[in-house]
This record gives sequence, C-alpha cells and structure tokens, in this order.
Amino acid sequence: HRPPNGTKLTFTPIEPVDAAVDEFTVPRGFAWHPIIRWGDPLFDDAPEFDWNAQSAEAQKRQFGYNNDYTEIQEIPGTAGKRAVMFVNHEYTNENIMLPADTDAEEAIEIGRAAHGLTVVELERKNKNFPYRYVQGAELNRRILLDDEFALTGPAAGSDLVRTVEDPEGRTVLGTLGNCAGGLTPWGTLVSGEENFHGYFRSAGTSDAEKRYGLRDAATARGWENAHDRYDARNEGYENEVNRFGYIVEVDPFDPTSTPRKHTSLGRFKHEGANIIIAEDGRAVAYSGDDEKFDYLYKFVSRDRYVEGDREHNLTLLENGDLYVARFTGNSPAAEIDGSGEVPSDGAFDGTGEWLPLVVDGESQVPGFTVEEVLVHTRLAADAVGPTKMDRCEDVEPSLHSRRVYVACTNNSDRGTAGKAAADEANPRSQNRDGHVVEIDEQGDQTSTAFAWNLLLVAGDPAQGDQTYFSGFPVEKVSPISCPDNLAFDSVGNLWISTDGAPSGIGYNDGLFRVTLEGEARGRVEQFLSVPIDGETCGPIIRDEDRSAFVSVQHPGEDGEFGAQRSYFPDYDGQGPKPTVVQVLPQRG
Ligand code: FEO
Ligand code: CA
Ligand code: CA
Ligand code: CA
Repeated sequence: HRPPNGTKLTFTPIEPVDAAVDEFTVPRGFAWHPIIRWGDPLFDDAPEFDWNAQSAEAQKRQFGYNNDYTEIQEIPGTAGKRAVMFVNHEYTNENIMLPADTDAEEAIEIGRAAHGLTVVELERKNKNFPYRYVQGAELNRRILLDDEFALTGPAAGSDLVRTVEDPEGRTVLGTLGNCAGGLTPWGTLVSGEENFHGYFRSAGTSDAEKRYGLRDAATARGWENAHDRYDARNEGYENEVNRFGYIVEVDPFDPTSTPRKHTSLGRFKHEGANIIIAEDGRAVAYSGDDEKFDYLYKFVSRDRYVEGDREHNLTLLENGDLYVARFTGNSPAAEIDGSGEVPSDGAFDGTGEWLPLVVDGESQVPGFTVEEVLVHTRLAADAVGPTKMDRCEDVEPSLHSRRVYVACTNNSDRGTAGKAAADEANPRSQNRDGHVVEIDEQGDQTSTAFAWNLLLVAGDPAQGDQTYFSGFPVEKVSPISCPDNLAFDSVGNLWISTDGAPSGIGYNDGLFRVTLEGEARGRVEQFLSVPIDGETCGPIIRDEDRSAFVSVQHPGEDGEFGAQRSYFPDYDGQGPKPTVVQVLPQRG
C-alpha cells in the first residue's frame, strides 16, 4: 500500500462497520486508547464520576459531555512529553446520562455544567505511548455557562446585545452549542457556537427570530424555566439570544484569560472557523453556517499578523471585513439535473465571488447598519444573493496548497417542493450523503474572486449511489457519507470525519483519509470507525508519530438510562461516555 505523499501513517483501510455495532475499529497493527471521558475528574478536588449520584457540583469539576472540536498543542520546553488539549462540549444527552428519577432542577444544572469548554494537560512517556490526562494540572480549566466572555468588535456594546444584566452589552455569560473549531496561527483556539437557538424560547415573531429558528415553544432541556435569560419573552432579556451564535476565542495557555466572542465574524450557526494568514499578512477566517440552504462566509482581518507578537495577534479577529460566497458553475444548467451525475466537461467546477457584507468597518448591505449585519447576519446575507449551500460544516484551508475545503454534510430538502434546486456546487437533489467543495483563492487569500470544484460527492458506489471522487475509480474507495470535520496531515492529505453515515449508507461514522495530489487524488481510505450512534469529531492527525485522535460524540444516544445501546469506551456494563481517543501503532 503506497503511502500518499510519503506520510509515515501507513495503514490498510478498514472495512466499513455495520451501524448496529458497538465497537471502535482501527486498522490491523493499531490500537485505540481513551484519553479522557465524560465525568473524568479534572481538578484535585474533583469527585470521581458516579453513574448513580451525578451532581452539578461534581460535573463542574469534571470533563463535560459530547466532546466535539479537539486540539492538542505541545507545551514548549517539555520535550514532547507534555501537551495542552482544548475540547468543546457541544450538547448533552440527558436520556442516557442520568437516571430517570433524577431531580428535574438538578438535571438542568448537571446538563448546564456538562456544556461549555475544557482545557486539560496531557502527558506521555514518549511518542510511542498514548497520552494520559493530568488531574490537577496547572492549565486545567472548565469554562462554564455562567463564566464571563468579552464581546468584541463593532456589535459589542450595541443596542442589539444589551440586557438587564449587562446594560453595557459587552459581557456575556457562557457559550452554547460549540461544534467545530480551529487552531489560530498564534496558538489560541476558535470555536463555533452552532445550535444556540435550541436553548432559547422567544416570541418567534420578528424576521430575525424566524430566520434563526427561534420559536415560542418549550425547549428540549427547559432551561428557560430555571433561568430567566433563556426566555427572550422576559422583560430585559429580549437580546440575550443575540449574544450567542458567534466565534469564540480561548487562550489555553492562560487559565486566567477571559474568553472572547468576536462579532466581526458575524452571527449565525457557526460550525467553526479556520484561519490562514494571507499573502499580505492579514488573517483570513473561513466559516460555514450549518443549516440547510445557508451560506459560506469569509472574514479578512483589518490588521496584519506579526510573527512573535502574540499580544497584537490576539486582537486580529476583533476587526475586519466580512464576505459571503456566491458560486457560479461553468456547465449548462440543463446538465445539473440533481442526480449528482458529472457534467459533460468532466467536473463540477466554476468561479465564485465573495460578496461584501462589511468592508472597512462600514455596512455594504443597504438598509443594515454594521451592527445589524453582524448580529442579524443571515438577514443581511439574504439581501445580497449568496449561494444556498448543503449545510457547510467544517471549512478548512490547507497550509500546504492554500486551497480551502468545505464539508457540505447533506441536505435532504435540496430540490424538493418550494426549495432551491440542485446547482453545480450542490449538484444532488435530496442530498443524503453530502459532498466536499475545494476553493482556490488563486494566490490571494483576501481576494473577492475564486475558482472552485468538487473534490468528491459522497456515498457508497457499491450500493449504487451516484458518486464522484475527482475521477478516482469509485470501486476502489471506502464508502463515505456526511462529511463533517476536516483535518490535514503533515504532508497535505485531507482527513474527513463523518456524522450521519448510519442513516445514509448504513455504516457507523468514521475517519477517512483523502489523497489530494497526484494520480490518486480522490482516493478515500477509512482509518477508523466509531461505535453505534456515535459521531466522529475533532480529528487530529499526527502522522509523523503515526498517531491520530478523534472525539467520539454521543455514542449510544438513542438508548435510555438502564437500557443503553452502547458501553463505549469501557464496556463495563455501564452506559456510554463520550470520549477523546488516541489511535497509534500497537507496541511489541
Ligand atoms: Fe454540530 Fe454542524 O455539527
Ligand atoms: Ca459538526
Ligand atoms: Ca463544470
Ligand atoms: Ca454535523
């Protein structure tokens, strides 16, 4: 098996694993190791996890639930033995977390404490051994829902974000729905507040409320019954929901730092953000709005990156220009019939424009102030005519090629009655399995024009799905469905983790390597598979160490406490625990 581009991470792809299987599967010669699980104690005073006696006070001192975005950075001066890990806790599955007789008020507080973010130190003997987390380490931190975030950028302090508890409109408590994220070139983490709307009840009558999916209905978790601020109908809290839906930035090396929410990158269901330094030194952040028929965005910082000046670089996401993408195909519209078949020119491809929303601190959208663009970003974007996408998840630039990859996870409504038809950038009706767009900014990452093509249109060719893998023979790929998170290895291969394959191709979700360069461009090889109901999140590829990491989110989520569907990762007869896992070669 020839390694693509000389990577040290060579493996024989695994066979896809049936969606009913409660196993974590890795290639022959590799082993998997849980690093940290839901409920693991983070601090010296943190209690051990107890399935039958969980409490909010314990949860605040323990690793949170549903780990999603994960990043690991070595701590300088520790000879590769010590690292700091950052993890998002996107949401909770109370049905499998807590006994049914848990006190309702306590269950709300446990759930709240299981959200948020974790920073935790890791250690290992050397790169041949798995990491383990260090309880009570100096950098360990939980960022919880009553912790302060500083709002930055033009919308901070505006009338749209003031509440009775924060009349200045500059300090928000907590972060919600944190999904994917990215490592900045200056060593902080950015994370996307995605499905924040599900935590708020509101009148649901304004254009903005409707556009963001806010409704006058009880929420799933009922937090609005315990805390006034989760109900926008309460006087003084009308704007609380406008304080969520941003990109947050956290400095993992400073446990006393105040995390920030950057309004300059707009407010929508941010899957995450990923940053590259442009040719002229400005920071460029790409971010998708993960909603059917929503948009892809690009932020270009006002100020330039200065190598080594961390204090300055920490301000780069506070001011800049915001754009939204329009894709134009180059094949006759008649050739895009929604079946996903490749057009006659042999490629799904074309040109695109970044349509300005904010430039030089000024709104570019008639009828919207800059504050309105940044808080009601979806409404502002609607006004300029961007391309309605099939749910942009991770959007990640390759530091090798500088091309940008967009995971469009799926869109069951594409081409259905009253909805947008297929187009060359979203070429399949009722798109069950998703696709990946490749964007080429053609030498200037700040440009407002780009070229694009589809890297792949996902599915299982063996089951007769109409697929496309950049011309690579479809009979030689691992079946793949619902691309979600993206990562690159040290030699520039793309790695894709998936969320939703069981309901698409009928296999458990997993992690896949995709060759981008040369004859084998488009080859998909499955590296691992996660247990039943689980989503594969937060991939980190350290191919020089022949090592990969994933967050296993919501394993067994369709079960019930007492009737669990998964026992991952300990298989000790207790329920499943979302867990960060390291995979590396078996020793001996
Ligand atoms: Fe939380 Fe878009 O996945
Ligand atoms: Ca995701
Ligand atoms: Ca074409
Ligand atoms: Ca997803």
